[in-house]
Amino acid sequence: MRKPYEKIVILDFGSQYTQLIARRIREQQVYSEIVPFSVDLKVLEEEEVRGIILSGGPSSVYDQDSPHPDQAIFQLNKPILGICYGMQLMAFHQQGVVSASQAREYGHAELEVVADSPLFLDYPPESCRDDRPILTVWMSHGDRLTGLPKGFKPLGRTDNSEFAAIMNPEKQQYGLQFHPEVVHTPFGSKILSNFVHRICGCTSSWTTEAFIDDTIAQLRDLVGKRQVICALSGGVDSSVLAVLLNRAIGSKTRCVFVDNGLLRKDERKNVEEILVERMGLNIQVVDASERFLTRLAGISEPEHKRKIIGEEFIKVFFDAAGNFDFLAQGTLYPDVIESVSTKGPSATIKTHHNRVAQILDLIQQGRILEPLKELFKDEVRQVGLALGLPNEIIYRHPFPGPGLAIRVIGPVDETRLALVREADAIVREEVASAGWHNKVWQAFAILLPVHSVGVMGDQRTYENSCVVRVVQSQDAMTADWARLSPEILARISHRIINEIAGINRVLYDISSKPPATIEWE
Ligand code: XMP
Repeated sequence: MRKPYEKIVILDFGSQYTQLIARRIREQQVYSEIVPFSVDLKVLEEEEVRGIILSGGPSSVYDQDSPHPDQAIFQLNKPILGICYGMQLMAFHQQGVVSASQAREYGHAELEVVADSPLFLDYPPESCRDDRPILTVWMSHGDRLTGLPKGFKPLGRTDNSEFAAIMNPEKQQYGLQFHPEVVHTPFGSKILSNFVHRICGCTSSWTTEAFIDDTIAQLRDLVGKRQVICALSGGVDSSVLAVLLNRAIGSKTRCVFVDNGLLRKDERKNVEEILVERMGLNIQVVDASERFLTRLAGISEPEHKRKIIGEEFIKVFFDAAGNFDFLAQGTLYPDVIESVSTKGPSATIKTHHNRVAQILDLIQQGRILEPLKELFKDEVRQVGLALGLPNEIIYRHPFPGPGLAIRVIGPVDETRLALVREADAIVREEVASAGWHNKVWQAFAILLPVHSVGVMGDQRTYENSCVVRVVQSQDAMTADWARLSPEILARISHRIINEIAGINRVLYDISSKPPATIEWE
C-alpha cells in the first residue's frame, strides 16, 4: 500500500467554491480532499490530516436545517481555517456572536490587517499602509460576526465587518469572512499557502512525479500478473489512463477502441498513429459502425439516440473485452465528489459509475480500477504531459459519447454523417489556425434538417444548412458563444459552402447556456 499523503481535509457545507479551495491547496503541492460536513471525527483524527478547512455555504447558522459539523472538531488538536459560513460556524460553536445582516455583502472589499499572524505573512509591500497591509478581498456573505468567539482575537477588518479575519493563536484556528480561493482575492493563494505550509506544517509532496511513481507502484502491486481492460475513446482522460497503465503493467493492459461510425474526421487514424505507433499501447480497434448505424436508422429523438448508442457500446465493448481481471475507468475527482452528498454518508452512493449490470457486478466484485480518481482535470493533463502524451490529445476539446449522431438533427445516416463530419473538420481547423483552439471549450458543426435555396454559378440549389457552434466555458455548466472575428467566420462559411457538396448555407449560433445548451440535441 502507498504511504498516505499528508493532507488538508475540506468539510463541504455546500459552497459553489468548495472544489476551488481543493484545487488552490493542491496548487501549493499539498494534497487536499473534500468530505461531507458530517464526516466521522475519526477521519479527521488520522495522522496524515494536517489541517482542516471549513468551506463556505449558502446557509445561515441559525437556519433550522443548516449543516453543522461535529462540535468536537473544535477541540481536535489540528489547525482549522473557517471560510465565510465556515468561520461563522467556528464562532457559533465557540460562544461568538453571528448576526444576520440587512444586506448581503457581495464583491470587493478592503481588508485592513490589524494584528500579526502567520496567515498574512509575505504580503505584497505595495499593499502596506502604516506598517500594516490593506488587502483587496472578495466577499459574498449574508450573516457576519459581531462578537468574537472565546479565545479569539481580531486579525483584520473591513468597512462592513469588524471581524473579517480572526485567530485563536493557542488552538491555531483562523476564520476569514472573505473568500481566499477566488481569483478576485489577489493575495488569496498566498493566504492558503501560509495556512497549509506555515500553520499546518505541510511539505510540498503532492507533485505530478510523486503521483506517477506512487500510482505505478500501486498498480503493479495490485494487478500482479492479471489482465486489465480499458475503453479508450481518444479523449484526455482515457488516453492518460491507458498510458499510465501501460507504463505500470505493460502488455497486461489491453485497450478497446470502438469505432461506432459516429467519430470525427480522422479520429480513428489519429488514435492509431499517436497511441499505438508513438506511445506503444496495445489497442484493439473494433469497427462496429454498421451495427450502430443500423440500429440508429430512422431514429430522431435525441434521448432515444443516446440510449441506443449507450446500449450498443456496452455490448460491443464487453464482446471485444473477452476475459479480463480488472476494468480500468478514467473516473476523475469531480465525479467522485459529486457522488459524495453533503446530506451525509447515508446518501453517499457511487453515482459516477455507468449504471449497467456488467459494471455494477464488477464494482461488487472489486474489479474496477480508477487510478485517476484523486485528480482534477488540470492535474490529469499534467500527468499526461509528464508521460509524454502530445498536446493534441492533452488539450483536445470534449467530444460527447454519442458523437456526431447528436449533431445530425433528425435521423442519422451515412450521407448526413459525412456532411457534418466534413463541416466539423473545417470548423476545428479554422478555429485552430486562427489561434482560438485553447481559448474555447468546443468548436463544432451541426447539420440541420432544413433545406434552403441558393445559387451556385447559374444553377439554383436546394441544399442543407449547417450551424457553427463555438463556445467558451469553464466547466460546461454555463457557456457563452465565442466572439470570433468576422474574418474567421467568413473563412469558415466560405470553405464549408465551397468544399462540401450538399451544404449551401452556414449559420453562427449566438446563444448562451443557459438558457440554450452547448449541443443542439
Ligand atoms: P450541453 O449540451 O448539455 O453539454 O450543454 C454540456 C457538455 O456535455 C457534452 N455532452 C455529452 N457528453 N455524452 C457525453 O459524453 C452525452 O450524451 C453528452 N451530451 C452533451 C457536451 O459536448 C458539452 O461539452
